[in-house]
Amino acid sequence: MAMETHYLHAVFFLVNVIVLSVSGATGTKQYGSAVGDPGMKRDGLRVAFEAWNFCNEVGQEAPGMGSPRAADCFDLSSKNKHHTRKRTVLKSSSLKHKVSEAENKLGVSQPFPGLAPGATDNADLYAAQKELYLGSLCQVEDTPMPWQFWMVMLKNGNYDTKSGLCPRNGKKVPPFSRGRFPCFGKGCMNQPILYHQQTQLLDGGIMRGSFNGTYELGSHIGSGLDGISFYEVVWQKKVGSGSWVFSHKLKTSKKYPWLMLYLRADATKGFSGGYHYDTRGMLKILPESPDFKNDGTPCDGDVLTDITRYCEMIINPETQAWCSPTNLGNCPPYHITPNNTKIYRNDTAKFPYRAYHYYCAPENAQFLEKPVSTCDPYSNPQAQELVQLLPHPIWAEYGYPTKRGDGWVGDAKTWELDVGGLASRLYFYQDPGTPPARRIWTSIDTGTEIFVSDKDEVAEWTISNFDVILT
Ligand SMILES: *[C@@H]1O[C@H](CO)[C@@H](O)[C@H](O)[C@H]1NC(C)=O
Ligand SMILES: *[C@@H]1O[C@H](CO)[C@@H](O)[C@H](O)[C@H]1NC(C)=O
Ligand SMILES: *[C@@H]1O[C@H](CO)[C@@H](O)[C@H](O)[C@H]1NC(C)=O
Repeated sequence: MAMETHYLHAVFFLVNVIVLSVSGATGTKQYGSAVGDPGMKRDGLRVAFEAWNFCNEVGQEAPGMGSPRAADCFDLSSKNKHHTRKRTVLKSSSLKHKVSEAENKLGVSQPFPGLAPGATDNADLYAAQKELYLGSLCQVEDTPMPWQFWMVMLKNGNYDTKSGLCPRNGKKVPPFSRGRFPCFGKGCMNQPILYHQQTQLLDGGIMRGSFNGTYELGSHIGSGLDGISFYEVVWQKKVGSGSWVFSHKLKTSKKYPWLMLYLRADATKGFSGGYHYDTRGMLKILPESPDFKNDGTPCDGDVLTDITRYCEMIINPETQAWCSPTNLGNCPPYHITPNNTKIYRNDTAKFPYRAYHYYCAPENAQFLEKPVSTCDPYSNPQAQELVQLLPHPIWAEYGYPTKRGDGWVGDAKTWELDVGGLASRLYFYQDPGTPPARRIWTSIDTGTEIFVSDKDEVAEWTISNFDVILT
Protein backbone atom coordinates (compact mmCIF):
# COMPACT_ATOMS: atom_id res chain seq x y z
CA MET A 1 0.00 0.00 0.00
CA ALA A 2 2.87 2.25 -0.67
CA MET A 3 3.53 3.79 -4.00
CA GLU A 4 6.17 2.15 -6.13
CA THR A 5 6.66 -0.90 -4.04
CA HIS A 6 5.79 -4.30 -5.42
CA TYR A 7 6.33 -5.17 -9.02
CA LEU A 8 4.99 -8.33 -10.47
CA HIS A 9 6.09 -9.15 -13.96
CA ALA A 10 5.05 -12.72 -14.46
CA VAL A 11 2.33 -15.22 -13.84
CA PHE A 12 3.25 -17.22 -10.76
CA PHE A 13 1.93 -19.97 -8.59
CA LEU A 14 2.75 -19.78 -4.96
CA VAL A 15 1.64 -22.68 -2.87
CA ASN A 16 2.33 -21.80 0.69
CA VAL A 17 1.50 -23.54 3.84
CA ILE A 18 2.16 -21.12 6.57
CA VAL A 19 2.72 -21.30 10.24
CA LEU A 20 3.41 -18.03 11.97
CA SER A 21 4.79 -18.02 15.39
CA VAL A 22 4.98 -15.00 17.58
CA SER A 23 7.34 -15.26 20.47
CA GLY A 24 7.22 -13.44 23.73
CA ALA A 25 3.66 -12.52 23.03
CA THR A 26 1.52 -13.17 26.05
CA GLY A 27 3.75 -13.66 28.98
CA THR A 28 2.36 -17.16 29.51
CA LYS A 29 4.65 -20.11 29.06
CA GLN A 30 2.21 -22.32 27.20
CA TYR A 31 2.03 -22.80 23.47
CA GLY A 32 -1.27 -21.61 22.22
CA SER A 33 -2.89 -20.23 19.12
CA ALA A 34 -3.91 -16.61 18.72
CA VAL A 35 -6.43 -17.43 15.99
CA GLY A 36 -9.92 -18.80 16.48
CA ASP A 37 -9.38 -21.59 13.98
CA PRO A 38 -5.82 -22.84 14.48
CA GLY A 39 -4.45 -24.32 11.28
CA MET A 40 -7.75 -23.72 9.39
CA LYS A 41 -8.99 -27.15 10.41
CA ARG A 42 -12.51 -26.33 11.57
CA ASP A 43 -15.20 -27.79 9.31
CA GLY A 44 -17.59 -24.96 10.16
CA LEU A 45 -15.84 -22.22 8.22
CA ARG A 46 -15.95 -18.52 9.01
CA VAL A 47 -14.78 -16.31 6.12
CA ALA A 48 -15.69 -12.75 5.16
CA PHE A 49 -15.01 -10.33 2.32
CA GLU A 50 -14.15 -6.63 2.36
CA ALA A 51 -13.30 -4.36 -0.58
CA TRP A 52 -11.40 -1.11 -0.03
CA ASN A 53 -10.82 1.92 -2.21
CA PHE A 54 -7.45 3.71 -2.31
CA CYS A 55 -7.73 5.06 1.23
CA ASN A 56 -9.36 1.96 2.71
CA GLU A 57 -12.92 3.28 2.52
CA VAL A 58 -15.88 2.53 0.26
CA GLY A 59 -16.60 5.91 -1.33
CA GLN A 60 -19.51 4.68 -3.38
CA GLU A 61 -21.13 1.24 -3.64
CA ALA A 62 -21.15 -0.58 -6.96
CA PRO A 63 -24.68 -0.59 -8.44
CA GLY A 64 -26.69 -3.62 -7.32
CA MET A 65 -23.88 -5.03 -5.18
CA GLY A 66 -24.73 -3.53 -1.83
CA SER A 67 -22.06 -2.52 0.64
CA PRO A 68 -18.77 -4.35 -0.10
CA ARG A 69 -18.84 -6.52 2.99
CA ALA A 70 -20.00 -10.14 2.86
CA ALA A 71 -19.56 -13.36 4.77
CA ASP A 72 -19.80 -17.10 4.33
CA CYS A 73 -20.24 -18.76 7.70
CA PHE A 74 -21.80 -22.11 8.48
CA ASP A 75 -21.84 -25.01 10.86
CA LEU A 76 -21.72 -28.57 9.73
CA SER A 77 -24.49 -30.61 11.21
CA SER A 78 -24.58 -34.37 11.10
CA LYS A 79 -27.74 -36.41 11.54
CA ASN A 80 -27.57 -40.10 12.26
CA LYS A 81 -30.32 -42.01 10.48
CA HIS A 82 -30.87 -45.31 12.21
CA HIS A 83 -32.21 -48.04 9.93
CA THR A 84 -32.93 -50.57 12.66
CA ARG A 85 -33.88 -53.57 10.47
CA LYS A 86 -30.72 -53.47 8.42
CA ARG A 87 -28.74 -52.38 11.48
CA THR A 88 -27.06 -49.69 9.51
CA VAL A 89 -26.45 -46.18 10.55
CA LEU A 90 -26.30 -43.60 7.82
CA LYS A 91 -24.78 -40.30 8.50
CA SER A 92 -26.09 -37.35 6.61
CA SER A 93 -24.38 -34.03 6.93
CA SER A 94 -25.53 -30.63 5.88
CA LEU A 95 -24.31 -27.06 6.08
CA LYS A 96 -26.32 -24.66 8.19
CA HIS A 97 -25.55 -21.21 6.84
CA LYS A 98 -25.56 -18.27 9.21
CA VAL A 99 -25.56 -15.41 6.70
CA SER A 100 -28.17 -15.15 3.95
CA GLU A 101 -27.52 -13.74 0.52
CA ALA A 102 -30.03 -10.97 1.32
CA GLU A 103 -27.82 -10.00 4.26
CA ASN A 104 -24.72 -10.10 2.09
CA LYS A 105 -26.38 -7.71 -0.36
CA LEU A 106 -27.33 -5.12 2.28
CA GLY A 107 -26.39 -1.62 1.12
CA VAL A 108 -26.74 2.00 2.18
CA SER A 109 -30.13 3.07 3.47
CA GLN A 110 -31.19 -0.55 4.13
CA PRO A 111 -31.63 -1.17 7.86
CA PHE A 112 -30.17 -4.06 9.86
CA PRO A 113 -30.12 -4.76 13.58
CA GLY A 114 -27.69 -2.49 15.38
CA LEU A 115 -27.17 -0.02 12.52
CA ALA A 116 -26.39 3.39 14.02
CA PRO A 117 -28.71 6.10 12.65
CA GLY A 118 -25.84 8.34 11.52
CA ALA A 119 -24.38 5.52 9.40
CA THR A 120 -27.45 4.74 7.33
CA ASP A 121 -26.66 6.94 4.35
CA ASN A 122 -22.88 7.10 4.52
CA ALA A 123 -21.26 4.34 2.43
CA ASP A 124 -18.07 4.31 4.53
CA LEU A 125 -19.73 4.16 7.92
CA TYR A 126 -22.38 1.76 6.65
CA ALA A 127 -19.74 -0.76 5.52
CA ALA A 128 -17.93 -0.57 8.84
CA GLN A 129 -21.21 -1.29 10.66
CA LYS A 130 -22.17 -4.04 8.26
CA GLU A 131 -18.91 -5.77 9.12
CA LEU A 132 -19.90 -5.68 12.78
CA TYR A 133 -23.34 -7.05 11.93
CA LEU A 134 -21.95 -9.90 9.84
CA GLY A 135 -19.52 -10.55 12.68
CA SER A 136 -22.44 -10.94 15.08
CA LEU A 137 -23.96 -13.60 12.80
CA CYS A 138 -20.71 -15.51 12.43
CA GLN A 139 -19.33 -15.18 15.94
CA VAL A 140 -17.95 -18.27 17.65
CA GLU A 141 -17.74 -18.30 21.44
CA ASP A 142 -14.24 -19.03 22.69
CA THR A 143 -11.67 -18.06 25.30
CA PRO A 144 -10.31 -15.57 26.04
CA MET A 145 -12.86 -14.00 23.70
CA PRO A 146 -15.17 -14.79 20.81
CA TRP A 147 -13.93 -14.58 17.24
CA GLN A 148 -15.68 -14.06 13.90
CA PHE A 149 -13.93 -14.78 10.58
CA TRP A 150 -10.93 -14.93 8.31
CA MET A 151 -11.05 -11.80 6.17
CA VAL A 152 -10.53 -11.64 2.40
CA MET A 153 -9.38 -8.10 1.66
CA LEU A 154 -9.47 -6.68 -1.85
CA LYS A 155 -8.13 -3.22 -2.65
CA ASN A 156 -8.27 -1.01 -5.75
CA GLY A 157 -5.17 1.20 -6.01
CA ASN A 158 -6.74 3.78 -8.34
CA TYR A 159 -6.83 7.28 -6.88
CA ASP A 160 -8.80 10.12 -8.40
CA THR A 161 -7.08 13.09 -6.78
CA LYS A 162 -9.92 15.32 -7.97
CA SER A 163 -12.47 13.30 -6.02
CA GLY A 164 -11.49 14.78 -2.67
CA LEU A 165 -12.09 11.30 -1.24
CA CYS A 166 -8.79 10.61 0.47
CA PRO A 167 -7.21 12.53 3.34
CA ARG A 168 -3.46 13.28 3.50
CA ASN A 169 -1.93 11.65 6.57
CA GLY A 170 -5.43 11.55 8.02
CA LYS A 171 -6.11 15.27 7.34
CA LYS A 172 -8.89 16.23 4.92
CA VAL A 173 -7.44 17.95 1.85
CA PRO A 174 -9.19 19.60 -1.11
CA PRO A 175 -9.15 17.97 -4.55
CA PHE A 176 -5.89 18.43 -6.44
CA SER A 177 -4.61 17.52 -9.87
CA ARG A 178 -1.42 15.56 -9.81
CA GLY A 179 -0.71 12.70 -12.18
CA ARG A 180 1.23 10.46 -9.78
CA PHE A 181 -1.59 8.00 -9.15
CA PRO A 182 -3.30 5.66 -11.59
CA CYS A 183 -6.82 6.69 -12.56
CA PHE A 184 -8.60 6.48 -15.89
CA GLY A 185 -10.97 9.31 -14.97
CA LYS A 186 -14.15 9.86 -13.02
CA GLY A 187 -15.30 6.67 -11.31
CA CYS A 188 -11.87 4.98 -11.25
CA MET A 189 -12.20 4.35 -7.51
CA ASN A 190 -15.27 2.17 -7.93
CA GLN A 191 -16.09 -0.91 -5.90
CA PRO A 192 -16.11 -4.27 -7.73
CA ILE A 193 -18.79 -6.65 -8.84
CA LEU A 194 -18.96 -9.46 -6.29
CA TYR A 195 -20.23 -12.95 -7.04
CA HIS A 196 -20.56 -15.33 -4.16
CA GLN A 197 -20.90 -19.09 -4.34
CA GLN A 198 -22.13 -20.01 -0.90
CA THR A 199 -20.21 -23.01 0.44
CA GLN A 200 -21.81 -26.27 -0.62
CA LEU A 201 -21.33 -29.83 0.50
CA LEU A 202 -20.44 -31.85 -2.58
CA ASP A 203 -19.94 -35.53 -3.30
CA GLY A 204 -17.15 -37.18 -1.38
CA GLY A 205 -17.60 -34.88 1.60
CA ILE A 206 -15.96 -31.95 -0.16
CA MET A 207 -17.04 -28.50 0.96
CA ARG A 208 -16.42 -25.65 -1.46
CA GLY A 209 -17.36 -21.99 -1.87
CA SER A 210 -15.99 -18.84 -3.48
CA PHE A 211 -15.96 -15.08 -3.95
CA ASN A 212 -15.06 -13.66 -7.33
CA GLY A 213 -15.64 -10.67 -9.54
CA THR A 214 -14.21 -7.76 -11.49
CA TYR A 215 -13.85 -4.01 -11.24
CA GLU A 216 -15.08 -3.54 -14.79
CA LEU A 217 -18.71 -2.85 -14.05
CA GLY A 218 -20.97 -4.07 -16.80
CA SER A 219 -18.54 -6.72 -18.08
CA HIS A 220 -19.34 -10.43 -17.91
CA ILE A 221 -16.56 -12.57 -16.47
CA GLY A 222 -18.33 -15.63 -17.90
CA SER A 223 -17.22 -14.61 -21.36
CA GLY A 224 -13.53 -14.59 -20.58
CA LEU A 225 -11.16 -12.39 -18.69
CA ASP A 226 -9.41 -10.76 -21.62
CA GLY A 227 -8.84 -7.11 -20.95
CA ILE A 228 -10.67 -7.02 -17.62
CA SER A 229 -9.60 -7.27 -14.02
CA PHE A 230 -10.49 -10.36 -11.99
CA TYR A 231 -10.21 -11.59 -8.45
CA GLU A 232 -11.20 -14.91 -7.01
CA VAL A 233 -10.89 -16.80 -3.75
CA VAL A 234 -12.05 -20.42 -3.67
CA TRP A 235 -12.02 -22.33 -0.37
CA GLN A 236 -12.23 -26.08 -0.18
CA LYS A 237 -11.95 -28.77 2.47
CA LYS A 238 -12.82 -32.38 3.01
CA VAL A 239 -15.17 -32.90 5.95
CA GLY A 240 -13.29 -34.10 9.00
CA SER A 241 -9.80 -33.96 7.63
CA GLY A 242 -6.95 -31.58 6.85
CA SER A 243 -7.04 -27.87 6.39
CA TRP A 244 -9.12 -25.47 4.34
CA VAL A 245 -7.23 -24.60 1.19
CA PHE A 246 -7.74 -21.01 -0.01
CA SER A 247 -6.91 -20.63 -3.73
CA HIS A 248 -6.44 -17.05 -4.87
CA LYS A 249 -6.30 -15.43 -8.25
CA LEU A 250 -5.78 -11.77 -9.04
CA LYS A 251 -5.58 -10.14 -12.46
CA THR A 252 -5.04 -6.50 -13.34
CA SER A 253 -6.26 -4.63 -16.42
CA LYS A 254 -5.49 -1.36 -18.17
CA LYS A 255 -8.14 0.46 -16.15
CA TYR A 256 -7.23 -1.26 -12.88
CA PRO A 257 -3.43 -1.70 -12.96
CA TRP A 258 -2.90 -1.76 -9.19
CA LEU A 259 -4.76 -4.36 -7.15
CA MET A 260 -4.24 -6.06 -3.83
CA LEU A 261 -5.72 -9.25 -2.44
CA TYR A 262 -4.96 -10.60 1.01
CA LEU A 263 -6.19 -13.22 3.39
CA ARG A 264 -6.14 -11.58 6.80
CA ALA A 265 -6.25 -12.59 10.39
CA ASP A 266 -7.55 -9.36 11.98
CA ALA A 267 -8.28 -8.36 15.55
CA THR A 268 -11.71 -9.48 16.74
CA LYS A 269 -12.37 -5.98 18.09
CA GLY A 270 -10.73 -2.56 18.13
CA PHE A 271 -8.73 -1.49 15.08
CA SER A 272 -7.02 -3.72 12.56
CA GLY A 273 -4.23 -2.94 10.09
CA GLY A 274 -5.15 0.02 7.87
CA TYR A 275 -8.68 0.21 9.27
CA HIS A 276 -9.80 3.00 11.62
CA TYR A 277 -13.19 1.52 12.47
CA ASP A 278 -14.02 -1.15 14.99
CA THR A 279 -13.20 -4.41 13.26
CA ARG A 280 -14.06 -8.10 13.43
CA GLY A 281 -11.72 -10.97 12.73
CA MET A 282 -9.83 -14.02 13.77
CA LEU A 283 -7.12 -12.86 16.19
CA LYS A 284 -8.64 -13.52 19.58
CA ILE A 285 -5.29 -12.73 21.16
CA LEU A 286 -3.24 -9.87 19.70
CA PRO A 287 0.37 -10.83 19.10
CA GLU A 288 2.53 -8.34 20.86
CA SER A 289 6.02 -7.76 19.75
CA PRO A 290 3.71 -1.29 18.17
CA ASP A 291 1.15 0.72 19.35
CA PHE A 292 3.36 2.98 17.42
CA LYS A 293 2.07 6.37 18.00
CA ASN A 294 5.14 8.47 17.25
CA ASP A 295 5.32 9.40 20.92
CA GLY A 296 4.91 5.78 22.03
CA THR A 297 1.32 6.04 23.29
CA PRO A 298 -1.36 3.57 22.12
CA CYS A 299 -3.48 4.10 19.01
CA ASP A 300 -6.85 5.70 19.83
CA GLY A 301 -8.52 5.96 16.41
CA ASP A 302 -7.40 9.57 15.80
CA VAL A 303 -6.23 9.44 12.17
CA LEU A 304 -4.08 12.54 12.66
CA THR A 305 -1.80 10.88 15.18
CA ASP A 306 -2.22 7.11 14.74
CA ILE A 307 0.13 5.37 12.29
CA THR A 308 -0.35 2.18 10.29
CA ARG A 309 2.86 0.19 10.55
CA TYR A 310 3.73 -2.55 8.10
CA CYS A 311 6.37 -5.20 8.31
CA GLU A 312 6.41 -7.04 4.98
CA MET A 313 8.40 -9.81 3.35
CA ILE A 314 8.34 -9.63 -0.46
CA ILE A 315 9.13 -12.95 -2.11
CA ASN A 316 8.95 -11.95 -5.78
CA PRO A 317 12.51 -12.78 -6.92
CA GLU A 318 12.44 -9.86 -9.37
CA THR A 319 12.01 -7.33 -6.59
CA GLN A 320 15.30 -5.49 -6.06
CA ALA A 321 16.72 -3.82 -3.00
CA TRP A 322 16.18 -0.07 -3.31
CA CYS A 323 18.08 0.33 -0.10
CA SER A 324 21.82 0.51 -0.90
CA PRO A 325 25.00 2.29 0.22
CA THR A 326 24.23 5.00 -2.35
CA ASN A 327 20.51 5.20 -1.46
CA LEU A 328 20.56 5.34 2.32
CA GLY A 329 17.24 7.20 2.30
CA ASN A 330 15.56 3.94 1.28
CA CYS A 331 17.05 2.07 4.26
CA PRO A 332 15.99 2.17 7.89
CA PRO A 333 18.49 4.12 10.05
CA TYR A 334 19.82 0.88 11.47
CA HIS A 335 19.54 -2.90 11.42
CA ILE A 336 19.41 -4.95 14.61
CA THR A 337 20.94 -8.43 14.59
CA PRO A 338 19.39 -11.42 16.38
CA ASN A 339 21.85 -10.83 19.21
CA ASN A 340 20.63 -7.23 19.49
CA THR A 341 23.64 -5.50 17.93
CA LYS A 342 22.77 -2.25 16.11
CA ILE A 343 24.36 -1.75 12.69
CA TYR A 344 23.96 1.78 11.28
CA ARG A 345 23.14 2.11 7.60
CA ASN A 346 26.30 4.17 7.04
CA ASP A 347 28.36 1.14 8.13
CA THR A 348 28.83 -0.03 4.55
CA ALA A 349 30.94 -3.01 5.56
CA LYS A 350 28.28 -4.55 7.81
CA PHE A 351 24.81 -3.24 6.96
CA PRO A 352 22.74 -5.92 5.12
CA TYR A 353 21.50 -3.61 2.33
CA ARG A 354 20.12 -6.44 0.22
CA ALA A 355 17.84 -7.57 3.02
CA TYR A 356 15.79 -4.36 2.68
CA HIS A 357 13.70 -3.55 -0.37
CA TYR A 358 12.50 -0.21 0.97
CA TYR A 359 11.96 1.65 4.17
CA CYS A 360 9.68 4.69 4.34
CA ALA A 361 8.88 6.81 7.38
CA PRO A 362 5.53 8.28 8.46
CA GLU A 363 5.24 11.81 7.01
CA ASN A 364 4.05 13.26 10.31
CA ALA A 365 7.17 12.18 12.20
CA GLN A 366 8.93 15.30 13.49
CA PHE A 367 12.48 14.14 14.12
CA LEU A 368 13.43 12.01 11.14
CA GLU A 369 17.01 11.08 10.46
CA LYS A 370 18.03 12.35 7.00
CA PRO A 371 18.22 11.18 4.30
CA VAL A 372 14.74 9.66 4.43
CA SER A 373 11.90 8.58 2.16
CA THR A 374 8.42 9.18 3.47
CA CYS A 375 5.49 6.87 2.74
CA ASP A 376 2.58 7.67 0.48
CA PRO A 377 0.42 9.99 2.61
CA TYR A 378 -2.89 9.21 0.88
CA SER A 379 -3.30 5.45 0.70
CA ASN A 380 -4.27 4.87 4.32
CA PRO A 381 -6.75 6.64 6.58
CA GLN A 382 -3.75 7.70 8.64
CA ALA A 383 0.00 8.17 8.10
CA GLN A 384 1.91 4.96 7.46
CA GLU A 385 5.36 3.45 7.90
CA LEU A 386 6.65 0.49 5.93
CA VAL A 387 9.55 -1.86 6.43
CA GLN A 388 9.79 -4.04 3.36
CA LEU A 389 12.15 -6.98 3.52
CA LEU A 390 13.64 -9.27 0.92
CA PRO A 391 14.85 -12.86 1.32
CA HIS A 392 18.36 -12.73 2.81
CA PRO A 393 20.55 -15.00 4.98
CA ILE A 394 20.25 -12.45 7.79
CA TRP A 395 16.61 -13.53 8.30
CA ALA A 396 17.42 -17.25 8.68
CA GLU A 397 17.30 -16.96 12.46
CA TYR A 398 13.57 -16.17 12.22
CA GLY A 399 12.68 -18.85 9.67
CA TYR A 400 12.12 -16.26 6.94
CA PRO A 401 13.15 -16.79 3.29
CA THR A 402 16.90 -16.51 2.88
CA LYS A 403 17.36 -16.51 -0.88
CA ARG A 404 15.58 -15.25 -3.96
CA GLY A 405 12.99 -17.68 -5.21
CA ASP A 406 12.21 -19.13 -1.79
CA GLY A 407 8.46 -19.80 -1.67
CA TRP A 408 8.03 -18.79 -5.30
CA VAL A 409 6.72 -20.80 -8.24
CA GLY A 410 7.35 -24.50 -7.67
CA ASP A 411 8.65 -23.99 -4.16
CA ALA A 412 5.57 -24.62 -2.06
CA LYS A 413 6.40 -25.13 1.58
CA THR A 414 5.35 -24.89 5.15
CA TRP A 415 6.87 -21.81 6.69
CA GLU A 416 7.37 -21.47 10.36
CA LEU A 417 8.10 -17.80 10.87
CA ASP A 418 9.17 -16.19 14.11
CA VAL A 419 7.22 -13.06 13.26
CA GLY A 420 7.43 -11.72 16.78
CA GLY A 421 11.19 -12.20 17.06
CA LEU A 422 11.77 -10.42 13.79
CA ALA A 423 9.26 -7.63 14.29
CA SER A 424 10.62 -6.82 17.71
CA ARG A 425 14.05 -6.12 16.18
CA LEU A 426 13.03 -4.01 13.19
CA TYR A 427 13.48 -0.26 13.23
CA PHE A 428 10.23 1.71 13.54
CA TYR A 429 10.16 5.44 14.11
CA GLN A 430 9.62 6.89 17.54
CA ASP A 431 10.08 10.44 18.83
CA PRO A 432 13.49 10.72 20.57
CA GLY A 433 13.33 10.15 24.30
CA THR A 434 9.92 8.45 24.33
CA PRO A 435 9.59 5.08 26.09
CA PRO A 436 9.69 2.14 23.63
CA ALA A 437 6.15 1.43 22.43
CA ARG A 438 4.61 -1.96 23.00
CA ARG A 439 4.52 -3.61 19.59
CA ILE A 440 1.10 -5.18 19.19
CA TRP A 441 0.17 -6.55 15.78
CA THR A 442 -3.53 -6.25 14.98
CA SER A 443 -3.44 -7.94 11.57
CA ILE A 444 -1.39 -10.66 9.94
CA ASP A 445 -1.93 -10.79 6.16
CA THR A 446 -0.71 -13.02 3.38
CA GLY A 447 -1.30 -12.11 -0.22
CA THR A 448 -0.31 -10.15 -3.25
CA GLU A 449 0.00 -6.55 -4.32
CA ILE A 450 0.29 -6.09 -8.05
CA PHE A 451 1.60 -2.63 -8.60
CA VAL A 452 0.90 -0.50 -11.67
CA SER A 453 1.95 -2.34 -14.78
CA ASP A 454 1.50 -1.53 -18.42
CA LYS A 455 0.29 -5.05 -19.13
CA ASP A 456 -2.29 -7.35 -17.58
CA GLU A 457 -0.64 -9.30 -14.77
CA VAL A 458 -1.95 -12.47 -13.16
CA ALA A 459 -1.03 -13.90 -9.78
CA GLU A 460 -2.20 -17.20 -8.29
CA TRP A 461 -1.43 -18.63 -4.88
CA THR A 462 -2.89 -20.89 -2.25
CA ILE A 463 -2.78 -20.73 1.51
CA SER A 464 -3.59 -23.44 4.01
CA ASN A 465 -2.80 -24.45 7.59
CA PHE A 466 -2.51 -20.80 8.66
CA ASP A 467 -1.89 -20.41 12.34
CA VAL A 468 -0.46 -17.86 14.73
CA ILE A 469 1.36 -19.68 17.49
CA LEU A 470 2.16 -18.01 20.75
CA THR A 471 5.22 -19.37 22.48
C1 LIG B 1 -17.33 -16.77 -10.46
O1 LIG B 1 -18.18 -17.36 -9.51
C2 LIG B 1 -19.39 -17.86 -10.03
C3 LIG B 1 -20.20 -18.41 -8.89
O2 LIG B 1 -20.46 -17.49 -7.93
C4 LIG B 1 -19.13 -18.94 -11.04
O3 LIG B 1 -20.35 -19.38 -11.61
C5 LIG B 1 -18.23 -18.42 -12.12
O4 LIG B 1 -17.85 -19.48 -12.98
C6 LIG B 1 -16.98 -17.78 -11.55
N1 LIG B 1 -16.27 -17.13 -12.63
C7 LIG B 1 -15.03 -17.42 -12.97
C8 LIG B 1 -14.48 -16.70 -14.16
O5 LIG B 1 -14.37 -18.21 -12.37
C1 LIG C 1 26.42 -10.50 17.28
O1 LIG C 1 26.19 -10.40 15.88
C2 LIG C 1 27.19 -9.65 15.18
C3 LIG C 1 26.71 -9.47 13.73
O2 LIG C 1 26.18 -10.66 13.23
C4 LIG C 1 28.51 -10.39 15.30
O3 LIG C 1 29.51 -9.66 14.59
C5 LIG C 1 28.87 -10.52 16.77
O4 LIG C 1 30.03 -11.28 16.88
C6 LIG C 1 27.75 -11.16 17.55
N1 LIG C 1 28.06 -11.07 18.96
C7 LIG C 1 27.81 -12.07 19.80
C8 LIG C 1 28.17 -11.79 21.23
O5 LIG C 1 27.36 -13.13 19.45
C1 LIG D 1 26.81 6.90 11.06
O1 LIG D 1 25.50 7.18 11.56
C2 LIG D 1 25.47 7.36 12.98
C3 LIG D 1 24.01 7.48 13.37
O2 LIG D 1 23.33 8.39 12.55
C4 LIG D 1 26.30 8.56 13.38
O3 LIG D 1 26.28 8.70 14.77
C5 LIG D 1 27.73 8.35 12.89
O4 LIG D 1 28.51 9.50 13.13
C6 LIG D 1 27.78 8.03 11.40
N1 LIG D 1 29.11 7.61 11.03
C7 LIG D 1 29.74 8.10 9.96
C8 LIG D 1 31.11 7.55 9.71
O5 LIG D 1 29.24 8.95 9.21
